[in-house]
Parts: sequence; structure tokens; C-alpha cells
Amino acid sequence: MKLANIKREWWKEAVVYQIYPRSFQDSNGDGIGDLRGIINRLDYIKSLGIDVVWLNPCYESPNDDNGYDISDYRTIMSEFGSMDDFDELLNAMHERGLKLVMDLVVNHSSDEHEWFKQSRQSRDNPYRDYYHWWPVEKGKPPARWSYFDKKGDAWKYDAQTNAYYLHYFSEKQPDLNWENPTLRKEIYDMMHFWFKKGIDGFRMDVITFISKHDDYPEFEAAYQNQNMIDMYAQGPRLHEYLQEMHSEVLSHYDIMTVAEGPGTHAHNVLDLVDESRQELNMNYHFDHQSIGVGPRFIINDDFQNLVKFKSVMSTWDKALSTKGWNTIYFGNHDFPRMVSRWASDAPEFRAAASKMLSTYLLSMRGTPYYYMGDEIGMSNIKFDDINDYNDLMTINWYHLTKEEGGDTQALIDSHKITARDNARTPIQWDSTDNAGFTTGKPWLKVNPNYIDINVAEQQNRQDSELNYFRKMVNVRKDNLILVYGSYTLLYDEHTQLYAYTRELDGKRLLVLLNFSDQMLEESLLEGIKIGNIVVNNYPEFNFDAKVFKLMPYQAVIVNILD
Ligand code: NOJ
Repeated sequence: MKLANIKREWWKEAVVYQIYPRSFQDSNGDGIGDLRGIINRLDYIKSLGIDVVWLNPCYESPNDDNGYDISDYRTIMSEFGSMDDFDELLNAMHERGLKLVMDLVVNHSSDEHEWFKQSRQSRDNPYRDYYHWWPVEKGKPPARWSYFDKKGDAWKYDAQTNAYYLHYFSEKQPDLNWENPTLRKEIYDMMHFWFKKGIDGFRMDVITFISKHDDYPEFEAAYQNQNMIDMYAQGPRLHEYLQEMHSEVLSHYDIMTVAEGPGTHAHNVLDLVDESRQELNMNYHFDHQSIGVGPRFIINDDFQNLVKFKSVMSTWDKALSTKGWNTIYFGNHDFPRMVSRWASDAPEFRAAASKMLSTYLLSMRGTPYYYMGDEIGMSNIKFDDINDYNDLMTINWYHLTKEEGGDTQALIDSHKITARDNARTPIQWDSTDNAGFTTGKPWLKVNPNYIDINVAEQQNRQDSELNYFRKMVNVRKDNLILVYGSYTLLYDEHTQLYAYTRELDGKRLLVLLNFSDQMLEESLLEGIKIGNIVVNNYPEFNFDAKVFKLMPYQAVIVNILD
């Protein structure tokens, strides 16, 4: 791989840090994180060495789905502050050389958005076609699956006009009708509004779902229930809409875009991110996250199957090796804590495991998206009681399982590992009350392990997870090979070891990661001679000319000698 042949871009070289504002820092004692809280923590954010912040939705919302149900796209949610706070945040970030990427949620709005209030009033309201309606005279609409509906039904009957409306998410999140050019223009105008303020990009919520199949045909049996996701992502006009969005809006600014792409796979991702198609820069997929996770987030034995994980990640790397650009992430607000999901949160392993996972994220090809709190190795809270949950997904599935006479304990046990609320507990800043997150009552319980795991404790401890993360960010910045170099998987079938080389302009690095809680010893492959150590999450690395040994969750990057 030659650097001279690669089109360098700032967003390819950036490290993205995601902030879920509700849980980051409360500044006014109402128990809910807010924009001023983020402003107060900007020096910390800058100290991480990251370049871009992706901020989850902070627009006005009734919060049925924590801000993913927007009732006004041009106003800041009152719980989070005001537009003045937002402007101050954006300025203060830019002054520090940080970029801000906002969330664009335009597959659906809130049912409390003025558009929907109008739309549901009468069949001939000018806003009627802003949403998807199915009049009862046509009979029952063809089945559509909903993520958040209590019964999984995406059609909700609305008596006022005797018709059903479509909602792929909760019934308070009606899907917008992109077929309507007036609606599309409203969305593009709104995007210009934010870009004119100076934001640096959008992460586009379930953007793959915006085009619906004309006349809502019945889907084949293979695409029933949750499997509809793949059909949802193949709407007939998706690429036409994204190309239109590109020419109307995106092409006017130096910004980055990333699709949240449920239903994207290695075989079709280039349709979205091949630069010659003029759609989006990047996409993030769910293929690794869904390993070992069944319906209602019940896990099975494959949950931590490393061989499958390596295969998925390597397939994706290959798909985007010459065109487009990949993303790499383990956690976000929709998944459990990375250390609990992908390694171990057992007290004796958690710190090493967290550093090992940071090494992985920051040494793969593709832009790393790093979720707040992972830098200190925060772990799952593992609620025992359904009443502790806030997330409508867990709550709905619990009640549905109960109504069906199913095994609610199995659901609770799995959700201790998989639930979204595990990642939404407040950031653990210090060991004072509520982990320094709020002086009030936190909207979601703080993980009791904050006494030991917190930013203040790790800030000045040289070997902390936090300082390791900072070091790894620098290692990536100092080694363009980790950004652009080609990736070659080694030991594909190994069940504990994830090893690969990165190569650029003839220079090669070897990355060795022990994804298990057991020591391992392995022979070096032909042609690989270990040179000096670039980074190591343990004090020692044990190797000779033939073999190397890794401690549980050890991560090492070394130069390969010619
Ligand atoms: C994906 C978001 O990340 C998630 O939090 C949200 O619930 C759904 N899209 C619906 O907007």
C-alpha cells in the first residue's frame, strides 16, 4: 500500500468520541446531563486527543426514545439548555480545534412534531403526505415490523382519520414520507440551518430506512419480523434521495457524514460510500454486534465467538479496502459497555481488557468511533429489576414476554449483558455522590462501581485505562500506517488470538491481541521477526525468535523487522 495513492481526508484520520448528553455531565442539578455540562468538561475532552465529537440528539423532544423522537428540529431540548448554550458549545469546541458532528434523525419525527399534529387531523391536510398513511378501506396493511412497538407491529390505527400510520420505531415516532418532495426540501433546509451555524457533519440515524417500498408490498417469508431490517434498508429510492441530499446540501460544505446503516452488509455498503456515487462518507454496520444476539436481545453461545468476529471485521475491511472508507466501533448508546460485551468486566481483568479493546479500535483501518466512558473502562450496570430500566426496548420486551407466559428471568439475565441502558448510566467522574455527575437524582442509576472506576482516580495514574487510551490515540496519530495501511489477518481460526499486520510504504506493524482471560503461547509465522515495541498494555512482552506469549487480554503492537 502506498500513501501517495491514497486520497487523504481529515475524517479518515480523525478519532471520533461520542457523547450521549443525557448521561455526560449535569450542570443544574436536575439529574439530566446538559450542554453546559459538556462545556464545563471541554478541557477533559480535548485532553483525550480526539478530533471529533458526535453528539446524540439534543433537539426538542418528548423523550419517548431519549431524543430520537424530535418535535422541533431547530430548537434545543429544554432539559439540555438553550440555543445560546449550543452556540457557545460549538464556538468553544472550535476554539480548541475540536469538530462537532450532530445527529440527523429524519427517518421519523415525534408524533408531537407540528407536522404530525397537522398530518393526523384530516386526510386532506397539507401535511398529510409528510407521513405514511394506510386508509382502513384498503383492509389491513401488509405486515411491517417495529423495533419498539409492544407487539412488534409498525402500523398504528389512528381513529381521527380512520387510517393506520407507519412507525418502524415506537408509536410516538411516525415515519416521515420521503416520497414527498416538499418534506425532503424541509429536511434539506433544516440541514443547511445547522451547517450555517458551523457544525462539522451529521451522523444519520437509520438513514438506510428512509425509502419505503411503493404500495407496501407483502415481504417474502424470509423477510418476516426482525428480518425485515434487510428489506427496510433496500428501499427503491434510497440512493436517489441520498444523491439528491448530497447535491442539495452536503456538497456545499467541508463536513463528514456517517450513516447508521442497519441492513448494510459488506456486499452492498459501497452503494452508500463509494465516493464516486456522491452519497455519504462512511457507514456503520451491525454485523459484528449481532453475533450471538437473538430476538429480544437474548444471547446464545456465539456471543463472544472470536473467530466469527474476526471474519466479520476482515470481510468489512476488504469490502472497503480500495473504495469508500470503513468505521470501527465497539460501543455506543445502543449497545452494552464494550468491556462487558467484547472482553471481560471481571475485576481482575477489566482494566487490561479495556486497554486491549482500545488498542484494537485504534489500530484498525477505518475511522474509530469511541463511546464516552469507555476510556475509563466503564462496565455494564446489570440491573436485576425491570423497574430500574428506562429504555423502552427492554421494558416492552419484558412485558411482551410476560404476557406470553415466557421466561422473563431469561430476558433479565440476557439484558444484564445486552441492554442499551448498560451504556447509558452516567459518566463516573469521581468518587463523590452520584460520581460527580449530578447534585440531584440521576435520571438513570449510577453504576455503584464508580467508587473505584472514575476519571479522577485515573487522571494522573500513569498506567490507568484513561492514560492508555490517550497514549493509543497518539500512537495512531504518529503512525499513519495505522490509519491507511493495508490489513492482513493472521491465525484466522485461533479462538483466543486476534493478530494482524498493517503495512504502508513497505513498513509493517504487527498487532497481537489476546481476547481471552487465559495466557497464550503461539509460534511466530514465517517471515515475521519482531522488532521494537510500539505499545504494550502490560509492563513486559515475552517473546523470542520463534514464539511469543500473551498474558490475559494483553495487547502489543510491534514493528516487523525486514
Ligand atoms: C438508532 C438510534 O441510535 C437509537 O438510539 C434509536 O432508538 C433508533 N435509531 C431510533 O431513532
